[in-house]
Amino acid sequence: MKISLNLDKTFINDSVLDERRGFARQILEDLYTCTETYNGWVKWPSEDAWHNIPRIEAEAERIRNLCDVLVVVGIGGSYLGTAAILEALGGNRPGRPEVIFAGTNLSGAYHSRLLKSIADRDVCMCVVSKSGTTMESRLAFTIMKRFLDEKYGTEAYKRIVAITDPVKGLLREETEEKGYASFEIPANIGGRYSAFTPAILFPLAVAGIDIRRFVQGAKDMEESSYIRNEALDYAMTRLALMESGKDVEIFEYYDPCYGKIGEWIKQLFAESEGKGGKGLLPVSLTFSTDLHSIGQFLQEGRQMFFETLLNVRNWGDDVEIPFCAGNAFDGRMLNEINALSLQGVVAAHSKAGIPIVQIDIEENDEYCLGQLMYFMMITTAVTGKMMGVDPFTQDGVEKYKAEIRALLD
Ligand code: PA5
Repeated sequence: MKISLNLDKTFINDSVLDERRGFARQILEDLYTCTETYNGWVKWPSEDAWHNIPRIEAEAERIRNLCDVLVVVGIGGSYLGTAAILEALGGNRPGRPEVIFAGTNLSGAYHSRLLKSIADRDVCMCVVSKSGTTMESRLAFTIMKRFLDEKYGTEAYKRIVAITDPVKGLLREETEEKGYASFEIPANIGGRYSAFTPAILFPLAVAGIDIRRFVQGAKDMEESSYIRNEALDYAMTRLALMESGKDVEIFEYYDPCYGKIGEWIKQLFAESEGKGGKGLLPVSLTFSTDLHSIGQFLQEGRQMFFETLLNVRNWGDDVEIPFCAGNAFDGRMLNEINALSLQGVVAAHSKAGIPIVQIDIEENDEYCLGQLMYFMMITTAVTGKMMGVDPFTQDGVEKYKAEIRALLD
């Protein structure tokens, strides 16, 4: 495996985990074998994901030839995977359409800026919405459609790719009626578990990401014994830390390119676990940036948290430090200093009694990100079930939507 788990600094005794191992294994077994309404994602990377890939690649090629900007419309699980992988791997690539996001908020100013920025460019749109009814996506979709209609007239529909439920919802109906190219988000896979479906793979393919390596990473993780051991250990450790009074899990990483990975994890974990008065609150921090803001609190503030360190061993590019930087730095590489800073922070935080889960990730590439995402999906599903909540629903978010609808009416 290209990722490994280190629980040495969590202060949780093995015997605490051993007590629950049988229960955790049973939950995992059920996830793999039962056909629950929303666990289609569990075996997706080793099975159906591959059937879609040739068509995703062909359609991505067609769209690439039509545009220099792809506007991806979607929110929550329907966009964060794309944003996370793209940003982690260095962002938009030369010679590929620039991917930008709409429908991730309701700001008129944001969308006005977006429309101005693409006015003179060749544009295609990929709208991703499982339900086809989400307000943010629906509004951005209609705004973008008007833009495309005004710019391309009767040819506009050829520039739209819709990714939605196979049969249900407004977006599916419109797709069939207008003849948009389309892909399906399987009915038994919820938004935040859709990272290996066309919802995320298609826009990534347009952007030039190697989606085969990404899915391969997830497949290898799915089929490995690692998922039966380390993912369960992580899930049980999280639960034990929560029971010991830790309410917050802070995910941290040492390159801002992982910022959207942090957002993706927060959405996955919070929507899966935060219900019935339960759950760990996920927070994400970029180091060393946030050491200069939150660092003081972490070191000496109220310890209601533990840390989960995402330690990428090889970030790729590097910069040599010039000789005028001072004796301790002269001639060294910046990533070496970054790694030393990580060690220093771990030492200081451990001495303060903060439990630290360490996840080592070999490389910053598609394969390792596929492994990491699948590992996190299993972890939160198992933790949620061990807590006694359904990790695949999000009824709570309907409450604010109902309030907004009442205000609109
Ligand atoms: O994880 C989830 O299910 C949610 O975050 C959804 O992805 C999000 O609400 C968007 O939903 P939809 O794809 O139906 O527009």
